[in-house]
Amino acid sequence: MGDRLAVVILISGRGSNLQAILEQTHAGTLPIDIRAVISNRPDAAGLQLARDRQIPTECVDHTQYENRETFDQALQACIDRYQPGLVILAGFMRILTVAFVKHNRGRMLNNHPSLLPKFQGLNTHQRALDAGETEHGASVHFVTEELDGGPVIAQSRVSINQDDDADSLAARVLQQEHELFPEVIRWYADKRLTLTGNQVNFDGKPLLKPVSI
Ligand code: GRF
Repeated sequence: MGDRLAVVILISGRGSNLQAILEQTHAGTLPIDIRAVISNRPDAAGLQLARDRQIPTECVDHTQYENRETFDQALQACIDRYQPGLVILAGFMRILTVAFVKHNRGRMLNNHPSLLPKFQGLNTHQRALDAGETEHGASVHFVTEELDGGPVIAQSRVSINQDDDADSLAARVLQQEHELFPEVIRWYADKRLTLTGNQVNFDGKPLLKPVSI
């Protein structure tokens, strides 16, 4: 495991993206050492997926903290114990403080179910339908101080069909996420990705637009 990138994965719920990462790691196609999976919710279904693979799990329950600052400090302390080179937000549904983001800047990735910068925030699928979009998708980005506003590394697109509703569209986007996210994590593990300020560098060159996958 010595040459593998140490990662910590944060989740809040179902964990299907976590599952995709676990499967690729297990198959040997993703060179990472998952040191821990941490949830802010004790009942997150994804925790069991990690336990099934003997990966340490932790819960830092946000309801037990007075405010965002104290929660983020506890979360940070929990993460730091595992000394990760990468923090992966896989459906982690908490707004992070600036101090937390600064501490992890350049080594924290998030996936988001829209073609950023469109539809930051929640309910992205319904909002894409309401806006009459003809395509939608998923993005993976470095996390910076602006919520869902960090520089985008890669995106996957899906066409919106006439008969789509939010659920059918979400299901198709999720399938894309399960390919896209592990791929970007692989690039990071292979040391192909860095962040300088708000500039993503890919293979040593500034990335001028998100990679389409
Ligand atoms: C995904 O849609 C992801 O893009 C968003 O939260 C959802 C998490 O799903 N950030 P899961 O827990 O990975 O199944």
